[in-house]
Amino acid sequence: MPDIISLNDVSKVYGKVIKTKVLKDVNISFEEGTFNSIIGASGSGKSTLLNIMGTLDKPTTGEIYINGVRTDTMKKNELLELRNKTIGFIFQFHYLLPEFTVLENVMMPYMIGNSKPSREILERANELLELVGLSKVKNNFANNISGGQQERTAIARALINNPKIVLSDEPTGNLDSEATVNIYKLLRGINEKMKTTFIVITHDNRIAEKADRIVEIKDGKVIGDSFKEKWPSYRCLVLRM
Ligand SMILES: Nc1ncnc2c1ncn2[C@@H]1O[C@H](COP(=O)(O)OP(=O)(O)O)[C@@H](O)[C@H]1O
Ligand SMILES: [Mg+2]
Repeated sequence: MPDIISLNDVSKVYGKVIKTKVLKDVNISFEEGTFNSIIGASGSGKSTLLNIMGTLDKPTTGEIYINGVRTDTMKKNELLELRNKTIGFIFQFHYLLPEFTVLENVMMPYMIGNSKPSREILERANELLELVGLSKVKNNFANNISGGQQERTAIARALINNPKIVLSDEPTGNLDSEATVNIYKLLRGINEKMKTTFIVITHDNRIAEKADRIVEIKDGKVIGDSFKEKWPSYRCLVLRM
């Protein structure tokens, strides 16, 4: 499969007077359809990296390619369109709109460019709500459901425009361990069913270990990068020695 995201020599410096380099010459690519996790200590630069990959933030130097198209030089309105069509975001703080229902929240990314939901989008929203197990509460207001259900609403919302990529920053950070495992299974299932590329920042080892690839960040650098399919051959190599 081709790469869907590529970063070439990406650096990020915060601050004008006191400059802090939080990403240092990062070179990394992600293959289409894979499930990737990013791990690293707090403050290592994970969120900065994810935001830059998702075009929410610009690199100070370096190039970003999404689906073969360079994005770091794009204008705001071009980026808006690219993001809305290609990338779904799931953050720990869901930013659901409490005065709208679960169903309306799921359709919100579509509603940004359209005044009325089409029948297709309504059908898709209902299918996604079925997939994430929220059909029963779809007409509840978004602040009238549990934390786990809010997380599921945010997942369905991230998928409404059928994005090629889902970027997720500590999606289960405030859920208990059972809910965490269930959310992970859900994301993995979506990855397998829809071939959506996932890049998930996590501090939860159970999520990281089940990904196809684990990227480790330390002090703004990639210090570890392991692919699951390479683990068995690595083990053979060790055994042969
Ligand atoms: N907007 C900002 N302005 C200045 N410094 C920032 C900003 N955002 C993040 N940082 C700093 O960049 C470093 C990396 O942050 P972040 O990417 O959020 O790390 P992580 O997600 O791994 O915890 C931290 O030292 C943080 O304080
Ligand atoms: Mg972070």
